[in-house]
Amino acid sequence: MSAKKIQIEYEVYSDISELPANDAALLNTAREITAQAYAPYSNFLVGAAASTVKGIVTGTNQENASYPVGICAERVLLSAASSIFPGLPIETIAVSYNNTNGASDTPVSPCGMCRQALLEYEGRGGKPLRIILSGQKGEVIVLKSVSDLLPFAFTQEKLK
Ligand code: THU
Repeated sequence: MSAKKIQIEYEVYSDISELPANDAALLNTAREITAQAYAPYSNFLVGAAASTVKGIVTGTNQENASYPVGICAERVLLSAASSIFPGLPIETIAVSYNNTNGASDTPVSPCGMCRQALLEYEGRGGKPLRIILSGQKGEVIVLKSVSDLLPFAFTQEKLK
């Protein structure tokens, strides 16, 4: 038997004002786009914004009266990017949220299904996809690759 350990590194900023200008702009877009979410059931409004050579692509969560039909903001964004610009690499994605009690001052990270989708997209782009996580205000977390969010991932290589 051998015991192994997985470690990840990430950056923590106390506020958006500490971020480089392009990251701050992307996070601001993610924060603002939460207003376009369709989330009448959870009232948890999520916005995602991606920086690409074609400009910023956005997504918001889209819910449904049949709850499992709803789609997270991250996968709405990836599907839109891949449909409109097939194979377009994404450099960085920022994810933010808002809720009815106004307490969105800590980061949330993508759900497991979105981590899987993000990882596939990162693999297609062939380079690390950075991810910025923050609420409407307060602390900001930056990870240098979405693979850090999903250790022991199942990937397309396993299908070969
Ligand atoms: N949601 C996202 O859009 N992204 C996440 O990272 C977490 C959760 C959505 C799904 C659902 O519409 C609502 O937030 C509450 O779970």
